[in-house]
Amino acid sequence: MSAMTTPAFTPRIETSPNARSSAERAGILADPGFGNHFTDHMFLTEWTPEQDWHDPRVVPYGPLSLDPATAVLHYAQEIFEGLKAYAHADDSVWLFRPEANAARMQRSAARLALPQLPIEWFTGSVKALIEADRAWVPTGEERSLYLRPFMFASEVFLGVRPSQHVTYSVIASPAGAYFAEGVKPVDIWLSSEYSRAGAGGTGAAKCGGNYAASLLPQQEAASHGCAQVAFLDSVEHRWVEELGGMNLYFVHSDGSIVTPELSGSILEGITRDSILTIAQDLGHDVIERKVSIDDWRDGVADGTITEVFACGTAAVVTPVGKLKWDGGEVVSAEGEPGKVTADIRGALVDIQYGRAEDRHGWMTRAV
Ligand code: PLP
Ligand code: COI
Repeated sequence: MSAMTTPAFTPRIETSPNARSSAERAGILADPGFGNHFTDHMFLTEWTPEQDWHDPRVVPYGPLSLDPATAVLHYAQEIFEGLKAYAHADDSVWLFRPEANAARMQRSAARLALPQLPIEWFTGSVKALIEADRAWVPTGEERSLYLRPFMFASEVFLGVRPSQHVTYSVIASPAGAYFAEGVKPVDIWLSSEYSRAGAGGTGAAKCGGNYAASLLPQQEAASHGCAQVAFLDSVEHRWVEELGGMNLYFVHSDGSIVTPELSGSILEGITRDSILTIAQDLGHDVIERKVSIDDWRDGVADGTITEVFACGTAAVVTPVGKLKWDGGEVVSAEGEPGKVTADIRGALVDIQYGRAEDRHGWMTRAV
């Protein structure tokens, strides 16, 4: 059984006969956008109670063939992760805190009744894919290779119970800035009708269903000209939780920095966690506490809150421009990010791209 001994991780490699030409790849890497293009290979392994995780392999990137009764298509037993590989000036490639993603995937798996993937298999699978697709790691400002590990119920069965056949895969996508505007402030829509997660639910797990539930409010946000939606708690509709795909930070006029405390329904962002440390390194008091929507609106309006920013792997650190709701708005940034937001962003990306010393031991060499 999976928990007893860790199966050896020795992936086989099947090189793609259809790898893109270097000219085609260069064309894509020149302007990758986010989530549009995929590399030449992917990682795959499967789990059953009898065989544990087995047959780890890097194979040519391509469609999965699924029986229509595959459990994930019906009951959404699925989890995923997101992390980036960064090319450094000496041509080496590095990952930022991959063990933290591996550990979060284990927590998500526990909540979704999926099997535990050993930490070494997670980091090993990501490294194996990067090695196969080394040429796809972009260089340059804001560029990285976004890695998407995911695990899903692949048993062909319509009963509602944990799948006895599970697939884990990693795909990779060269990435530029997540928001088309780059590091410019983004506007946020406050959802008054919908919550992202509830007590006892799956909010702290990175499962596809949470994102499915966020799409309608996200659409509402877009119809109000906003790039992201902010969610409040599901009971009092008062406490700020997070955005559809990012955590939030509030910079105060006294220099302190506040982020909503982990309530059990907020995703424990690795960027959020890293900023707790980076902001302290930069001399800020960092506080995790409940933040009410009135704290946000009034704080920005009266100047107690001087900057608001969102953070996550895909979005890195992105300043919040306006917070809009039915009947009003407050503006926390116009045109350019505030100084504290820019400093925190700079300190984080300097570590990720190898331009600053890795004082906290966050970087792992991939290639
Ligand atoms: N919150 C949600 C809902 C997310 O999807 C993400 C993105 O992964 C985050 C927060 C930020 O997490 P991380 O910093 O680990 O990418
Ligand atoms: C990430 O930041 O890695 C995410 O998964 C967020 C998603 C909205 C792209």
